Amino acid sequence: MDVTPLSPKIGVEIAGIDLSQPLDEATFAEIRRLLNEHSLIAIRGQNLSEAEHVAFARRFGQLQIHVLKQFLTTPYPELYVLSNKREAGKPIGNHKEGWNWHSDLSYLEVPCLGSVLYAREVPPVGADTLFSSMEAAWEALDAETKAKIRPLKCVHSYSGYYAKAFADRTPLTEEQRAATPDVVHPLVRTHPETGRLSLYVGEDVVKEVVGLEPEESAALLARLNRHATSDEFSHRHVWRQGDVIIWDNRCTMHKATPYDDVAYTRVMHRATICGTERPF
Ligand code: SIN
Repeated sequence: MDVTPLSPKIGVEIAGIDLSQPLDEATFAEIRRLLNEHSLIAIRGQNLSEAEHVAFARRFGQLQIHVLKQFLTTPYPELYVLSNKREAGKPIGNHKEGWNWHSDLSYLEVPCLGSVLYAREVPPVGADTLFSSMEAAWEALDAETKAKIRPLKCVHSYSGYYAKAFADRTPLTEEQRAATPDVVHPLVRTHPETGRLSLYVGEDVVKEVVGLEPEESAALLARLNRHATSDEFSHRHVWRQGDVIIWDNRCTMHKATPYDDVAYTRVMHRATICGTERPF
């Protein structure tokens, strides 16, 4: 494997690896190590069946089944489709999902460890994905801010996010709401494998800081989100068909960007790896 950095604070690219083939233990252990060290891995030029995508992602742990079941592939409900494409008059995937800074499924009591996103069809321009290191963002804060925010907690809300992001759609069903109640997580979390601290913020899903007045809460979240997503801590991935990106949701945020969805189609399959503990 050839490993090259993607940006100063986050990400490496691995070349010389074929994810459609079963990986030996040593190779997989090296991928895990690189993920813990750099939080984001890009592997280009892959040609994966749905089964191979699931098999690779499954090496990291149990896979999440998304609550929006209409956007899961058959026969692999572990793959959540992000797309503007329609087949037989129906959308095959969730369009405009994740067009805000977030960490995948942070609204669960036990949020996801990581994600493995595979580009099946990409527009020639636009639809880049931005990634940001929440560890680097935490490190760069001044001591006074660190001391102030360290004990704080935030409410993460899927129904709040859904209502904002998809206001023009059918609301969540009772069953979907029941499966995604609001949860409270620390604003600063500890990586369970490396012990490093990171900010745990985000737009839209992170509704408020517990115990602060609404204006103070909104101002603090806006300030931290602005800081955390500055270019200094970020990487922009320009997709090519066949790219696989793996990221660690415990210490990064990401955001998809718009594209000309009339002229072009985009089809991305995401396998989301279940977490193993509540954030602490
Ligand atoms: C996501 O938020 O997981 C999707 C990112 C993307 O579509 O680029």
